[in-house]
Amino acid sequence: MNPASVTLALLAVSTSLSSAPIASNRWYDHAVIYEIYPRSFQDTNGDGIGDLNGITARLDYLKELGVDAIWITPFFPSPNFDFGYDISDYTSVAPEYGTLHDWNKLVAEANKRGIRILIDFVLNHTSDQHPWFKESRSSRTNPKRDWYVWRSGGGPDQPPTHWTSIFGGYTWTWDAPTTQWYYHIFLPQQPDVNWRNPQLRNAMYNVVRFWLDHGASGFRLDATPYLFEDPAFPEDPHPPQPGAEAALKPYNSGRPENHEVLREMRKILDSHPGNPVLLGESSTATIEDLAKVYGTNHDEIQLPMDFLFGNLTTLDAAVFKKQVDAAQLQLGGQTPVFFFSSHDHPRQWSTFGDGAHNDQIAKLTAALTLAQHGCVLLYYGEEIGMGTMPADQLKTVPIGPKRPRADDRDGERTPMQWDLAKNASFTNGEPWLPVETGADRYNVATEKQNPDSIYSWYSKLLKLRHDDAAFREGAYIPLDSGNRDVFAFGRKAGSGEMALIVLNTSPKDQTVSITGTSGGWPNFRKLLMASPQAELPTSQTFTIAAYGVMIATTE
Ligand code: GLC
Repeated sequence: MNPASVTLALLAVSTSLSSAPIASNRWYDHAVIYEIYPRSFQDTNGDGIGDLNGITARLDYLKELGVDAIWITPFFPSPNFDFGYDISDYTSVAPEYGTLHDWNKLVAEANKRGIRILIDFVLNHTSDQHPWFKESRSSRTNPKRDWYVWRSGGGPDQPPTHWTSIFGGYTWTWDAPTTQWYYHIFLPQQPDVNWRNPQLRNAMYNVVRFWLDHGASGFRLDATPYLFEDPAFPEDPHPPQPGAEAALKPYNSGRPENHEVLREMRKILDSHPGNPVLLGESSTATIEDLAKVYGTNHDEIQLPMDFLFGNLTTLDAAVFKKQVDAAQLQLGGQTPVFFFSSHDHPRQWSTFGDGAHNDQIAKLTAALTLAQHGCVLLYYGEEIGMGTMPADQLKTVPIGPKRPRADDRDGERTPMQWDLAKNASFTNGEPWLPVETGADRYNVATEKQNPDSIYSWYSKLLKLRHDDAAFREGAYIPLDSGNRDVFAFGRKAGSGEMALIVLNTSPKDQTVSITGTSGGWPNFRKLLMASPQAELPTSQTFTIAAYGVMIATTE
């Protein structure tokens, strides 16, 4: 055991009076939730597409890494116009991912290891191939007609409004046989359901009950802001250009009716054992709007993802501080949810890397999220510094049965890099998407051997979150580093130790003069982690290396 591990082992003993997060009823307040894109994690049947059995096979890896829960993106039957986010059957497993039996096995094995499983619930829309929509579009008088959002507009050339969809084009598609338009905030193959219809609502809640009964510990709720539209469907005098900016208009998102649905859903969860959780894809324009997503009585989404932080793409201490302070101090004490990368967001190593110090910067962004008070989402492969596949390389990847269509986001969806074997041991067959070129250096097996690797860094951070009271349950303490290139903050649990985290986002060494610690400058006695190597600060003024990370404690 090296001295650092001895220190951590001692800390674990000395703090064992507090309950471990997994045992507490608010286990999620402090969880690391590992996002798995199942298509790309581990293939076990040689078809080149990851599967549920592959996740089961890698649970020991996840346990050793120290994650509390996994969130698996959709693995349900789907025509894959949006890679699983267009569901045609909510209560089955798509054949390429396995069977319900495989799911049950995954749950049983995850339970044994104390790992909870969240599934993706795409509740704003279904696939246009879902039997509900097929019925709905079959005639104007079909009992399920009202399960979706139909309007007549001014006939085939005149949509009801000129609202723009997030994926481009209008939010309306004309259905010639029934001479009406149906509404979709995403693709035409993803019609929005009508949450105002009680039968639809009940059918959706039955999906929730089904997966809770089958061992899910909660749901990542897809696209939650968009469940309702303004019933007056007002025309937008300045329709946005198609694209992301189409989102978050007062008429298409964040409607007051959302709250009622989320409260109802939360009630269903609360009536189930095991403290299941709702993790929301809750984009908001402001921190005040984000605070509302938890519910006025904290009775809606326990974990709304903070996109104001997650959408940041520039390495800038001052901006990080502003957004973290907001999340930690302006959400009324509710649990913030930090993330940077996901199946929709390019990877940290590529986004924040400057081309020369990417590994060090990856360690910095890891500490920035994982040292926070709150819940952290960790996208598979971030812990080994996987890169985003560049767009020009992505363009050369053929389209075929395994990859029915190209998606700009495929760059961050490449196969997990396990070791140096062919296809990084993701598959014995031909992978649906090639393994990223960095795999010979950035893979689990190689990095586990190296105490300075990105993997080893992540692994230490995760241990710290479990074993050290300040990192496990400590409050966030805003500090002023006196230097706009350096973000410093503290963590402190009750009257216990105080931890100090210092992050230099600039390519130069920086001198800081830290203020904001109550009762003067604490006596920091131990360096818990530092990259590059650093001295323990003996006063509030000290120098931190270019892109340096330093974590110290008074313990
Ligand atoms: C969410 C998903 C994204 C998907 C979209 C439409 O934003 O994260 O991948 O394309 O919903 O379902």
